Amino acid sequence: MDKRILPVIAALCWLVCSGNAFAQNKVVNAGDVKKVETAKGQVKIVTTNAFADITVYDEGMIRVRMDKQEPGDDFSYAVIAKPSAITANIKEDAGSITITTSLLQARISKKPFSVAFYTADGRLLNEDEKGLTTSWVGTVVTTYKKLQEGERFLGLGEKNGNLDRAGTAYTNWNSDVFGYRADQDPLYSTIPFYIGVHHGLNYGIFFDNSYQSDFNFGASNNRFSSFGARGGEMNYYFIYAPDVAGLIKAYTGLTGRMHMPPLWSLGYQQNRYSYYPDTEVLRIAQTLREKKIPADGITLDIHYMDAYKLFTWNKERFPDPAGMTAKLAGMGFKVTVINDPGIKVEKGYESYENGVKENVFIKYADGELYAGQVWPGWCHFADFTGERGRNWWKAQMKGYVNNGVAGFWNDMNEIATWGQKMPDNVLFDFEGHGATHQQAHNVYALEMNRASYEGARSLMNKRPFLLTRAGYAGLQRYTAIWTGDNRSEDDHMLAGVRLLNSLGLSGVAFTGMDIGGFTGNPTVPLYARWMQIGAFIPYYRNHTAVNTKSAEPWTFGEEVMEVSRNYINLRYRLLPYIYSAFYEASATGMPVMRTLAIDYTNDQKIYNTRYQQEYLFGPAFLVAPFESTKEYGEVYFPGGKWYDLYTDELQEGQQSRVIPLNLHKLPVYVKGGSIVTMQTLVQSTSERPADTLFVHLYRGDSSNTVTYYEDDGETYDYEKGVYYKRIISYDKQQLVFEKPLGNYTSKFGNIKLILHGFDGLRQVKVNGSVQLPVSLSINFLDPVSRFDPQGGYTAPDMCNVLAVALKNSADRIVLEF
Ligand code: NOJ
Repeated sequence: MDKRILPVIAALCWLVCSGNAFAQNKVVNAGDVKKVETAKGQVKIVTTNAFADITVYDEGMIRVRMDKQEPGDDFSYAVIAKPSAITANIKEDAGSITITTSLLQARISKKPFSVAFYTADGRLLNEDEKGLTTSWVGTVVTTYKKLQEGERFLGLGEKNGNLDRAGTAYTNWNSDVFGYRADQDPLYSTIPFYIGVHHGLNYGIFFDNSYQSDFNFGASNNRFSSFGARGGEMNYYFIYAPDVAGLIKAYTGLTGRMHMPPLWSLGYQQNRYSYYPDTEVLRIAQTLREKKIPADGITLDIHYMDAYKLFTWNKERFPDPAGMTAKLAGMGFKVTVINDPGIKVEKGYESYENGVKENVFIKYADGELYAGQVWPGWCHFADFTGERGRNWWKAQMKGYVNNGVAGFWNDMNEIATWGQKMPDNVLFDFEGHGATHQQAHNVYALEMNRASYEGARSLMNKRPFLLTRAGYAGLQRYTAIWTGDNRSEDDHMLAGVRLLNSLGLSGVAFTGMDIGGFTGNPTVPLYARWMQIGAFIPYYRNHTAVNTKSAEPWTFGEEVMEVSRNYINLRYRLLPYIYSAFYEASATGMPVMRTLAIDYTNDQKIYNTRYQQEYLFGPAFLVAPFESTKEYGEVYFPGGKWYDLYTDELQEGQQSRVIPLNLHKLPVYVKGGSIVTMQTLVQSTSERPADTLFVHLYRGDSSNTVTYYEDDGETYDYEKGVYYKRIISYDKQQLVFEKPLGNYTSKFGNIKLILHGFDGLRQVKVNGSVQLPVSLSINFLDPVSRFDPQGGYTAPDMCNVLAVALKNSADRIVLEF
């Protein structure tokens, strides 16, 4: 018997055996606790109608797993961590069971079964809604949580709407949504992790269930928030940390963090649907170089294939793909190709033939191959939820790698088919557990990304760049994500910023959106503004649909080309800073694009819809994006000191300010205390910057520590210690460069330190000895130290910039103010 049919049989048996108890027309609660068994770090509970396993995962993480039958196989595509061996204190009395760690306490009431979470010092974080708790309607399982006074909800991945999701509800079902509305739900990916904030406290809930799920954050009720799914178990991880960064760290500890990306993927990428033939691709690359617009990537959309057949090349359009990628490589460009999961049903087409032979395509319950229509017509789809399917895919990728392709863009992987109605009775391997389409749908893309990542990594023996449209929690382990088919409209640009901020809260640091908008044509000002914002988002790619006008930076006139070039230039100068921010993401899960809700969670102003799209790009830059139609904008500055990036003008925080807007400038401010590392301008990351690392220090009241990070930018040698890591810390008295760690030699022999807002420097100590005299110069002509989007440089009396030259080879450098 085909093992994959087991879940169908199990569901039928359950329906028959359970009589009426879980019928569709009844709501069945867990009921009262009947039996309790305690083991180390775990409590097993039997209630009137259910079974519950409560497991301590970590000091700040407790898992609640419930089902109508005894929980079976424990399997997840998202979770990669195991419970850590910590000692939790578990106590039981007549009315309750209490589990206590150093950070968190779970109190389980027995009549009825309900769970509440407290901080270790007894402050209520979250509690089941007592009347509703966890219940079933047929196979739909939902947990209801009491709404706390003033409770806000953040995250949940790629979800439209406000930063604070209170009062709204969402569904998770990966969907192909061409030209979606700026308030549409669901979109392409599923990350069932959200953060609750109230009374100065914050917690996270990750509901790991891949069935279609629903989240209700007090939408049309003031009683509860809830999360539930159409099938499977109630299975959630309750996370507590003192701050939101700690929650993201814990969540990404559970579901994984990104690998270091290839450095080139952080440069500017040019794209459209589609560039062809090869001469057109080369013309675009050549024009970028001629016009001195730095760029690293060019992407091939579906027209590179022969009749949209994956793993093929259209011989007329691309007669010599290897020759083309080599030529592009010589010009400093890497090529990314689009990959859709649909394999055309066509006799003689190699991937179809060997896919059928190797039995890798998904099937109906009766064993017939499932077919759906996409670009090539009728297609079969590899079953990525099993090793056989993934291995087959990896082998197919060989041709791309042999042809010099460096990036893989996984599209249409929701799975998108015309009509979007894959039947429920299509079966998947699900790592041998067997699953119907209902359970496998939302993780299909995650596993496609896994196959692509693992395939490309082993074939290339270098870091591949991976981009996906769909995914599930944990996708950050394999790929970057972009927000699909947005529209060339102002509200989409701002909604896109919020989508990326939300993805960052949800563990995904490498994110992007189609700059300029996918459907329709942007106005000239909108294009300019979007290109500016693009310089401050993790994945900087310009893309547009098949039937729109050209959208390369030079197609909107000289002025806009200038604006675009200025901001792309700035992006390239900032690469040392950006790369270090990516390092932080890979080490702690901290996103590169950070909603203010991460650092300023309890400042109520940041949730105001007027300010909600402001964000930090890395730890230092406050970006305030506004519609291109506005002449004035109101910026809210959270606590601290803020410097205008362009003029160094100082602004005290915790107040808002109306500023004039123009198309040459994106409002960007630098936080007092920040350390920003920059390099000289290059036209692509294949070019070596000059030997000097520019370190900008902005005077501030609070201390700050950053990790400056470098490695070779392309191999996995950093996993073996071949990196250059240097802690740089600032407090009011001094700036300290600690001894570098790792076995990589920095690209930069010199450091030029640029001090903003300081009026002097007392002394410099290099490796313990005082260097005298300290040579200071007012440095207003250095193109790296100042940034003026209109090309000129700020007058010396407008800013207070001092420059100090240092040798990077020094182990420890201390500057005293
Ligand atoms: C849909 C993707 O979202 C879009 O970016 C791409 O250009 C088209 N598919 C064509 O491949």
